[in-house]
Amino acid sequence: MKVLISADAIQQRIDAVAKEITATYQGEPVTIVGVLTGCVVFVADLIRRLDLPVKIAFIQASSYRGTATSPGSLVVKAELLPDLRGRNVLLIDDILDTGQTLSYVVEHLQSMQPASVRVAVLMRKLGRQKVHLEPDFTGFEIPDEFVVGYGLDYNDEYRNLPFIGVLPGPAGH
Ligand code: XMP
Repeated sequence: MKVLISADAIQQRIDAVAKEITATYQGEPVTIVGVLTGCVVFVADLIRRLDLPVKIAFIQASSYRGTATSPGSLVVKAELLPDLRGRNVLLIDDILDTGQTLSYVVEHLQSMQPASVRVAVLMRKLGRQKVHLEPDFTGFEIPDEFVVGYGLDYNDEYRNLPFIGVLPGPAGH
C-alpha cells in the first residue's frame, strides 16, 4: 500500500494542531464531539496533547456504507450526546470530503444552544467540497484519493494502521 502520510508526520502535525487549539480556547472548558467511527484514533491522540479542561462525547454519522467509496445517504445518530447548552463544542472528524456530513452535524449541534461550535479535521480532500464549511483546524490537505488507516476504513478494515495510505486498485477513486 502507498503511504500518503507517515506515522511520524501525523504525530508531528497533531502536536502543532493541539497547540493551536489550546491557544484558541485559552483555558476555557471544551466538549470534544467526535464523529464515529473514523475519528477515534485522531481524537485519542489529540486530546492527550490538549492543555485544557475537556469532556468527550461522540455522535455517529456515516455516509459510506460497506464497500461503497462514494457517498450514500447520510445516517446520523445523536442519542449519545450530553447536554451541550452553554458549552464550547469542538467537533472532530477524520476527513472533510464533500462537507455534507460535517455541515449537517454542525447544524444539529447549533440547535442544542452551545456557546460556540468549532471544527477540527485531520484531513481535507482538495477539489471535493460541495457544501461550504471552513474548518477552524485542519491537519493535512490531501489530493482526491480514497485513503485508509489512522481510523479510516475500507469496508471496516485498516483503521488500525498507524499511517494514512492509499489502497491500490478499484477502492481508490
Ligand atoms: P463528506 O462527503 O460528508 O464525507 O464530507 C465525510 C465522511 O466520508 C468518509 N470519507 C472517507 N473515508 N476514506 C475513508 O475511509 C476516504 O478517503 C474518505 N473520504 C470520505 C469519512 O467517513 C468522512 O467522515
